[in-house]
Amino acid sequence: MKPLTLLLISGSLRAGSSNAAALHTASALAPAGVTVQFFERMGDLPHFNPDLEQASLPEPVADLRQQLAAADAVLVSTPEYAGALPGSFKNLLDWSVGEGLYRKPIGYLNVSPHEGGAERTYQMLRVVLGYVHADLVEAACVRAPVRRDAVDAEQQVTDPAVRETIRRAVGALVEHAASARAVHDQRRKAEHADDDAEHDAEKR
Ligand code: FNR
Repeated sequence: MKPLTLLLISGSLRAGSSNAAALHTASALAPAGVTVQFFERMGDLPHFNPDLEQASLPEPVADLRQQLAAADAVLVSTPEYAGALPGSFKNLLDWSVGEGLYRKPIGYLNVSPHEGGAERTYQMLRVVLGYVHADLVEAACVRAPVRRDAVDAEQQVTDPAVRETIRRAVGALVEHAASARAVHDQRRKAEHADDDAEHDAEKR
């Protein structure tokens, strides 16, 4: 069976980002056999403009959509800026509407170390994900507080309890994605069997 692919997307462009560190930690703690990709090109995406969909698609957008299409599941982690989703991350989500997130299993890591921190950004993310009919995996939507001094040189979160929270979230997301893929494969098999039966009946 093709290995499961997990796509990681950070909503922060900052070097030394806590959100990116949480995702690098998720990558290190992902179950064995899972292929992990990090979408690193959020900063290369042009401002969303539906006119650009008509002409040839900007290459970073095509890359984003290809990586989303190839992923069995997506894990995101984003800061909150001024009580809302960062503009650059919302831009990435706008480029994904109708493309790639439909029924895609998705989870998130809220790394804010402050009580109630970043909650509005995740409320907004949930609105967007509901709108695009993504498959939100609640067990993979967790608070995993990351203090800036609790990240090592390899971008790994060092706090064992937070690492365990991240490990469980990634595990739940991958498990859900595996079941979703099995159901999807089963359906396709059944459809093919129906097509074959119809074809045979026509031949008779
Ligand atoms: C913030 N931060 C923030 N946090 C929050 O919980 N609610 C908010 O409204 C804001 N607003 C905000 C505005 C601006 C301009 C900055 C620079 C920061 C804090 C921010 O989310 C926090 O520092 C994140 O940890 C940054 O993520 P990275 O870059 O470390 O991944």
